[in-house]
Amino acid sequence: MVLALWAAGGRAPDLPADADHRLDQGEADCLACHGHAGRSPRPADHPPRDDCFSCHRDAAGELHPRSGAPTAVSGGWQDDTRR
Ligand code: HEC
Ligand code: HEC
Repeated sequence: MVLALWAAGGRAPDLPADADHRLDQGEADCLACHGHAGRSPRPADHPPRDDCFSCHRDAAGELHPRSGAPTAVSGGWQDDTRR
């Protein structure tokens, strides 16, 4: 993961400290807003991974990785028609 971040050119921005960004959501919930068709889409050049919690830390800067989280989720980067 360190290598992936390094290759992407920087640390992933931390999650905002609001209700939309509670840690008990699934990656599919994140993609409802941040998928390519959502209202706050990730940029087209975002790293090709959907295991959000492997890279994005909480607002306190703490990482909460989920073991076994899939790197491709329905509606995620593989389905991004902009790529
Ligand atoms: C209800 C819609 C919604 C959901 C659900 C949601 N987000 Fe967001 N997210 C937003 C909006 C809108 C912003 C922009 C807030 C801002 O820039 O102040 C944002 C900002 C972010 C940022 C910060 C971007 C930056 O440049 O600082 C990250 C990272 C992020 N979201 C990841 C996630 C992850 C991971 C999840 C799932 C846990 C998630 N979001 C769930 C709407 C959502
Ligand atoms: C491999 C690490 C990694 C994973 C996994 C990852 N991201 Fe990111 N993300 C990044 C990096 C690095 C950036 C900053 C570079 C960029 O904006 O392209 C970023 C940027 C973002 C941004 C901010 C874009 C902006 O316009 O400022 C949002 C929102 C976001 N990611 C959401 C997500 C969501 C939702 C997931 C899971 C579905 C996810 N990310 C999975 C590394 C990751």
